[in-house]
Amino acid sequence: MLSAVERKIEQFIADLNDKEVSQLYLQLPKGKRLRAKLILKIAGSGLSVIKTAAIVEMIHAASLLHDDVIDDAYTRRSKPSINALYGNKTAIMFGDILYSKGFLELNHISTEVAKTVSNAVVELSLGELKDVSLSKTFTLDRALYLEMIYQKTASLMEASAGAAALLAGKPKEVYMTYGRNLGIAFQMIDDILDITADEATLGKPALHDFEEGKTTLPYIYLYEVLEDDEKEKLRSLHAKRLSEEEQQWIKAKMQEHHIIQKSYAEAKLLVEEAIALMKSRGEDALSQIAMQMIDRDF
Ligand code: FPP
Ligand code: MG
Repeated sequence: MLSAVERKIEQFIADLNDKEVSQLYLQLPKGKRLRAKLILKIAGSGLSVIKTAAIVEMIHAASLLHDDVIDDAYTRRSKPSINALYGNKTAIMFGDILYSKGFLELNHISTEVAKTVSNAVVELSLGELKDVSLSKTFTLDRALYLEMIYQKTASLMEASAGAAALLAGKPKEVYMTYGRNLGIAFQMIDDILDITADEATLGKPALHDFEEGKTTLPYIYLYEVLEDDEKEKLRSLHAKRLSEEEQQWIKAKMQEHHIIQKSYAEAKLLVEEAIALMKSRGEDALSQIAMQMIDRDF
């Protein structure tokens, strides 16, 4: 049924009747369509469900177009990003077009679904701003990090699950909790993979987050256990282009102190809670999606 979502996105793009936008859309990597999958698994395949899934994926794609400009990221899913291919101006405007068309279509679903999704877009924008602000200094506040990744990533997954529950007449809060846990865990794992995976697997340079100034969960935990001189060294490497040797030092310290395992265990706990919630409701497909998340290596 994911193909019905793809067709719907294509139809929304075709509605715009603009050759340049259609061309740009062809260059956009589709991604995992995780949010659409959640929506379909919760709510089936009625027209409103397909449309909601298409809208959420368009909004998500818009947010990544902007994010790649903000992060100076020249690859997305192993392909050149739109900003790399056509520059920041085009990437931003293409994002705005996907986002506005998504919102236009959202008006036709239902007021409650529209509220749920638009509230998440406010959150994700606030989260991205927080990410940018936190990256300016060497921040080691775990609570702030968690709040930021909830807003930046989990809010749209939470809203996807909530909107789908509304469409399916299922209890909204339970599904929102599932989506939220999954979203937070997803971003934690994304942040871990930035350290553990190689460039080829990631489709973007490794340790890019720290170079960009982002002190994600593993860095927060690492700093806690380092000796004073090592703390100083880590601080001095923050938000800088790292040499191969410096990268290896960070990775070795992470390994020595089992930081990746500790961070991963935290993500796993959230996923397990999400799985238990869905198992209690007999939602096997949703439990499966959650299980796959803790196994992903990209
Ligand atoms: C990826 O984070 C970024 C997000 C999930 C959210 C980005 C949100 C905005 C730019 C707000 C604008 C929103 C709209 C709809 C126009 P990341 O950089 O940690 O992940 P990455 O490794 O995938 O780049
Ligand atoms: Mg990014």
